[in-house]
Amino acid sequence: MAIKIVTICGSVRPGNYTAMALNIALDELAKFPDVEVTPIYLEKLDLPLPGLAAQNPDAIEEFQRTVKEATGVLLASPEYHGGISSPMKLAIDNLGFPSMLADKPISLLGVAAGVIGAIKSTEQLRAICSHVGAIPLPMVVSVAKVHQVFDADGHCQDADMENLIRRSASNLVGYIKDTVCAKISLEEVLREQGERH
Ligand SMILES: Cc1cc2nc3c(=O)[nH]c(=O)nc-3n(C[C@H](O)[C@H](O)[C@H](O)COP(=O)(O)O)c2cc1C
Repeated sequence: MAIKIVTICGSVRPGNYTAMALNIALDELAKFPDVEVTPIYLEKLDLPLPGLAAQNPDAIEEFQRTVKEATGVLLASPEYHGGISSPMKLAIDNLGFPSMLADKPISLLGVAAGVIGAIKSTEQLRAICSHVGAIPLPMVVSVAKVHQVFDADGHCQDADMENLIRRSASNLVGYIKDTVCAKISLEEVLREQGERH
């Protein structure tokens, strides 16, 4: 069974820095041949506000189906006003109640212009993920002073930070292989045994 990872970029600003950080995580995910990656960019989705009809229901259904079928999710959010971005919250609010994120391991990546980094937003994102029954991984990556970390072309100028961002991806794959996959194969063994008796 292929491991399916969905990434969601929580900034929709043209030229946003969250996508620059996420690009490094995506590059890391591409190193795993057994991992299928679906990056989701919210500016393409026109997500409805909660309770309102979708203008593009097919796209929203596909978004929901993609997340539902994912083995794990990487959420990358900018820090806006001490919290996660409104597009990221809207994306989570469009994933159902109960949430399609439930039971899924989630890697958290936060991006901020300020010196303290995306501490508040990643903590908030962790709380929301826990609330909906997802499994936010203990290691959270917060990029501070992001305008100094990346140049205008999106190249990372800080090797240590690049390494950390890469780990936000590899850590998720590692967690899935060690726990989710192990559980799946145990289930398969038990099912086979049950069929034999
Ligand atoms: C509406 C808004 C609010 C912001 N609030 C914060 C903040 O509270 N703390 C911070 O460090 N940076 C803040 N920023 C700066 C972003 O963190 C910065 O733009 C960074 O590049 C990540 O956002 P981006 O992915 O949209 O580029 C804010 C930016 C916007 C647009």
